[in-house]
Amino acid sequence: MSTGPRPLDARTRLLVLTGAGVSAESGLATFRGAGGLWEGHPVEAVASPDGFRRDPALVWRFYSMRRAAAAGAEPNAGHRALATLEARLGERFLLVTQNVDGLHARAGSRRLEELHGSLWRTRCSRCELAPFADDRHPVQPPLPECPRCGGLLRPDIVWFGEALDDAVLARVGGFLRTAARAGDRFVFLAVGTSGVVWPAAGYVHAAREVGAETWLANLEAPENDEAFDHRFIGPATRVLPELLEAMRD
Ligand code: OAD
Repeated sequence: MSTGPRPLDARTRLLVLTGAGVSAESGLATFRGAGGLWEGHPVEAVASPDGFRRDPALVWRFYSMRRAAAAGAEPNAGHRALATLEARLGERFLLVTQNVDGLHARAGSRRLEELHGSLWRTRCSRCELAPFADDRHPVQPPLPECPRCGGLLRPDIVWFGEALDDAVLARVGGFLRTAARAGDRFVFLAVGTSGVVWPAAGYVHAAREVGAETWLANLEAPENDEAFDHRFIGPATRVLPELLEAMRD
């Protein structure tokens, strides 16, 4: 009989990485596989600076569709379980998400880093205008222009070929270093992510290097499966509440 890992407890430090799978049961499509968002949308056309230069109206149509879908979705039991874990662990907890849908924040998560930006912010494609809150949709021609430089506005999403925000990366790195120094039990948990997009896919390795137990909660084995010590295979709305339920004070 195989035994699972020791349950989480109030002294555990927990770094959680989520991907599209955690929002799947809120009705939002994941990216890869049949019915995925990338099926029928070549990634470079809708999620790269080149694609935006070629056809900004197509890009805005894609992100308008995603804004509409996310606006109509509700956080699920998986999002809520993560917000409750944060409430229990306080500064011992950090949630890093690749999702741009805003559902973690709506579920109450505050110790939250959005690695790939947000559907709910817009920025300038040309100048350093500060990104601003924006829930307009659909955005269609004539496309909105920057009030400062006249360049086209674009979604504040990190596209393929673009660098992640240094400040976000530094905060995640800081959490990893603090966890390594603290000497407490440290658990890294990846949820609903296929482990193919870097640097997010590398966090499991970074956490292992500083002594974390590495846990996976996913519907199926991800690309970086071999890096995990423990696997909970199943839907996030079942697995995350179970991990919370098993937690000890
Ligand atoms: P993917 O679509 O690549 O992977 C989703 C993962 O979630 C898969 O491994 C599924 O098996 C799993 N899954 C699906 N439903 C689930 C459920 N109910 N419970 C648990 N797991 C479930 O999405 P990501 O890994 O998030 O980047 O993709 C990473 C990045 O690639 C995205 O942020 C996006 C994309 O291109 C950008 O747009 C920059």
